[in-house]
Amino acid sequence: MINVAILGFGVVGGGVYDVIEMNSNRLASRVGEEVRVKKILDLREFPGTPFENLITHDINDIINDDEITVVAECMGGSHPAFDYSLSIIKSGKHVVTSNKEVVSKFGSELIAAAAEHGVRYLFEASVGGGIPLIHPLCECMSVNLILKIAGILNGTTNYILTRMFGDGASFDSALSEAQQKGYAERNPSADIDGLDTARKICILSDLAYGITVLPEQITTEGIRTISSKDVADAEAYGATIKLIGYSEKAGEGIYCIVCPFFVQTDNVLSGVNDVFNAVKITGNAVGDVVFYGKGAGKLPTASAMVSDIAEAIIGSSCSVSWIEPDKTESDGYIKPISSRVAPMYLRFSSDKAGQEQILKAFASCEVVSRDEISSKERTISIVCAPASEDEIMKKVAELDRLYSVKLESKIRILA
Ligand code: HSE
Repeated sequence: MINVAILGFGVVGGGVYDVIEMNSNRLASRVGEEVRVKKILDLREFPGTPFENLITHDINDIINDDEITVVAECMGGSHPAFDYSLSIIKSGKHVVTSNKEVVSKFGSELIAAAAEHGVRYLFEASVGGGIPLIHPLCECMSVNLILKIAGILNGTTNYILTRMFGDGASFDSALSEAQQKGYAERNPSADIDGLDTARKICILSDLAYGITVLPEQITTEGIRTISSKDVADAEAYGATIKLIGYSEKAGEGIYCIVCPFFVQTDNVLSGVNDVFNAVKITGNAVGDVVFYGKGAGKLPTASAMVSDIAEAIIGSSCSVSWIEPDKTESDGYIKPISSRVAPMYLRFSSDKAGQEQILKAFASCEVVSRDEISSKERTISIVCAPASEDEIMKKVAELDRLYSVKLESKIRILA
């Protein structure tokens, strides 16, 4: 008999319990023994449920229980989740987690601690929920130099954007639907303002480039400012808008960013809708590989966690690791996004003379739409030719300074 403990009995913790129950025969045949949940750490009691006798409020009941082999950490937040994970690893138990906050901040430290204590720290569920992503990246693509990662990594925002595009839904009603379905974080700001995606692209970049990229080191923009005019212009340009976690090898360093992008319809990511996530990874040998599936929700996330539980028990040789970071090196390694050369969607309000100046400044741009609002006021939307963001913003500032021109929106274009 293999004994498992669950930390945090919310949506994901409940899913881990359910998948272990629901697929008990399959799990037993995979690991060679019956697997059961022995203890659950939660603040609540759950009276009258099948697991009421498994509940404990004291982490030491789990740390000091030598019969427990694997702990599934589903708490969310950095603390005490990190501290508990470290103590559990030091007590000689494996830890599996869906907690991208802990993995993005402390992943290399916990992997190193696990190696030191002869156990595993596994986190397949922390990025892309149920989509096998981390293992294929670390194992099947391990001999590739990773050139680029572009991922729709947040189900909540993808759900919201899909509803805004397809059905003209308001931002607020789409968000509350996503919350009702259990996709959103407790604080939906982490979804909407891009932090959840930032944590996930940082984890993938850590693994791909062998260096720790922290969420606070990268530019992170969410979807709050996406307007119906942006949506209409994207459609006119033959694109949709997706919140993308993006990283790209650039010489000796990388660019890494989270922001909304125009994604043209010939890019496979443009057709990824609702709560689905998809990640396109480009390796120098394999080319483009796309991973697609449910990136949030109870059972999909638990599917990845219980598979990690099985892997920890079997002791398979899969290696999920990254190189211990040198902070200074990491800081220099991440290039400022302002130096990245790419086209960009820009929308201005201006008077007629201002429009002429915009077209002069961005000579080889594509005009997406041009509206006359009143005899004086107009809007013009363009996609400018590839240039560094620095150069583009310098031109915008100059137009603003010299003419009656105001930048209303800027959205990057996914190459
Ligand atoms: N809030 C996250 C999402 C959950 O919507 O994708 C999975 O990390």
